[in-house]
Amino acid sequence: MTSSSNYPLVLEINQTPQSSPPGWAEVAEFVFKLMKKISIKIITLFPGFTDHYATFGIIARAVKNKIVKFASVDLRPFGVDARKTVDDRPYGGGVGMVLRPDIVYKAIMRSKSKVESRKSKVILLTPQGKTFSQKLAQELAEQEELVFVCGRYEGFDERIRKFVDIEISIGDYVLMGGELPALVISEAVLRLVPGVLGKDHSADKESFSEQMLEYPQYTKPEVWEVGGKRLRVPKVLLSGNHARIDAWRAAEARKRTKKRRPDLLDAI
Ligand code: ADE
Repeated sequence: MTSSSNYPLVLEINQTPQSSPPGWAEVAEFVFKLMKKISIKIITLFPGFTDHYATFGIIARAVKNKIVKFASVDLRPFGVDARKTVDDRPYGGGVGMVLRPDIVYKAIMRSKSKVESRKSKVILLTPQGKTFSQKLAQELAEQEELVFVCGRYEGFDERIRKFVDIEISIGDYVLMGGELPALVISEAVLRLVPGVLGKDHSADKESFSEQMLEYPQYTKPEVWEVGGKRLRVPKVLLSGNHARIDAWRAAEARKRTKKRRPDLLDAI
């Protein structure tokens, strides 16, 4: 039953009072949106692992620059009974344990923002998912919130699939859990979020951004003597002629792609 007051004591599920003033959470969400930030949450039984990784490299930098809000969400406290059990044996028999859907569901609901309009994706990591690619990274970089759900053991109860937006695999091999895939995806996505890479460093000249592999790069020494050989930097790169350098790089990128990944050229 709905109360006629603006501030009912008991709210039905998903019901918010129509005319209530915004609380701090809503104000913070609004500001966060204006600043084009991204929130990443990783639901896992190993929050220490994912949190630790996030203290390095690009995730750490993006957190420091306040472009990303990163949090690992421990699945364990959502478990049942005194031992906070999160899994059980599969119905019908078989080896291993299966993550309970009710536990994972509670963790997803707790992790997702309550702001309906927020561009949000709940991502299940599984070898059965869509193969991750630069294109998918670009799509995810448009989101405001990514909630990753990492499995362990033999897998998830099938019913949880109804409550996720996308299932992603990072390749045709089986890992022990979704933590590494979640971090791989987070890193690939974050480097595409404006402001994460320094202004001198652009993501769009690198491998895959134009569905091509990157051209070869050289630095000092100009002539490297190694194993009785003299390995030189291609002359064009020393020419100072930027039009020629760009043309050389484009041709090399194409040559390399044709040789190593012709499938990418077929897809253009
Ligand atoms: N979980 C286990 N293996 C995986 C993979 N290859 N991709 C995504 N999630 C996984």
